[in-house]
Amino acid sequence: MIFETSARVSGIDRTNEGRAVLAAAFVLLGCVAAGCGAQGDADDPAATGAVVTATSGAISRANGDEPALSRGGGDPRPPIEVIPVQLVSDLVADGLMHFSIYDATTVGVRIDVTNVGNAPAVGTGGHVVVINSIWGAKLYQYAGGTANPAANTLNPGEHGYLLTFLPNGMLKPCHSYPVNIDFDRSMQAGPIDPFANDQSTSATQCLSWTSPIDGNNFMTVGPPLAGSSLARAISSVDIVRSDGRRCSACHYQNAPGVRYQPPVPQNSTQAIGPYQSINGYSWAQVGGWADQFLQRPTDDTGTVPGAKPSALKNLMQTWIDGDRNLGNAVYGSMPIATGSFSAN
Ligand code: HEC
Repeated sequence: MIFETSARVSGIDRTNEGRAVLAAAFVLLGCVAAGCGAQGDADDPAATGAVVTATSGAISRANGDEPALSRGGGDPRPPIEVIPVQLVSDLVADGLMHFSIYDATTVGVRIDVTNVGNAPAVGTGGHVVVINSIWGAKLYQYAGGTANPAANTLNPGEHGYLLTFLPNGMLKPCHSYPVNIDFDRSMQAGPIDPFANDQSTSATQCLSWTSPIDGNNFMTVGPPLAGSSLARAISSVDIVRSDGRRCSACHYQNAPGVRYQPPVPQNSTQAIGPYQSINGYSWAQVGGWADQFLQRPTDDTGTVPGAKPSALKNLMQTWIDGDRNLGNAVYGSMPIATGSFSAN
């Protein structure tokens, strides 16, 4: 509540605002001891908000609603000390970000964050730094978040994201980039510096050989690729072509007319790994089967012999750009955040 107020007072220096909240908290302590009523600096909206918030809780206890506070009548124990709760909204980057195509020149980027404070964070128009440039960003909660109304608010303890828009090509999959999640200090507030932990690195989505393919690691996901993986497609476990054929329909041991002949009987399934040598090449090596796959013509009708569907070629390129080129080591097992992407 108070930080919705604070967020609206955007002109106030954040440090002073923090002091105002602290000051209000100490005023309250004195009041509880002395039994006085609420006081506040009427000129300072933040301070007023703090006192009002605190009044409804702590002062009513001083009036005797709370049994622990009304010990008396010979109870030898010392009076209970009321420690006021200091409200802070504090966003921390989760270390993951995810981008997907927004329009011809722009990608929408979700930078995953958690509110580790105890008050809602509100971000209707903040700024983030990605690598070394500053971009407008808004805060969103993921599906299942409890902020209501949800607009640009993230409740304490919950995961959400900062949505920004960057030039297409600025980020690559499976790479880590420096980010500052609240450059102009407008989305967090509170007495203990919530901005100290705003600079960190976040890694983009990563498609490994075995990652289940979904909207978190592949931009143009849809049937039949969704839920499959490179491993399952290339091992002919799943049918990922619109013509209904497994890879092993045409690529099998000693198959005629193709150079890629994995050790699998026609139309069967056989696990194929990225470093496995097949007729002198692996999928992972530079110039290997992944690169040769990309050199085939593109066709989505399933009628051009030797052509490959565009979605499969995009998938292969995504793997090459990230996991393959990074040696399949650093990010291979990194967890991928889930959640819905909204570009508004
Ligand atoms: C309908 C038959 C057919 C299916 C199904 C098929 N391919 Fe091919 N593929 C071909 C043909 C034909 C070529 C071109 C062969 C040539 O000219 O060397 C080719 C070329 C390739 C190449 C380049 C190396 C080569 O042999 O020329 C790779 C790698 C490849 N396909 C992988 C796959 C994978 C992976 C799948 C399954 C997702 C798949 N193909 C499904 C027919 C097919």
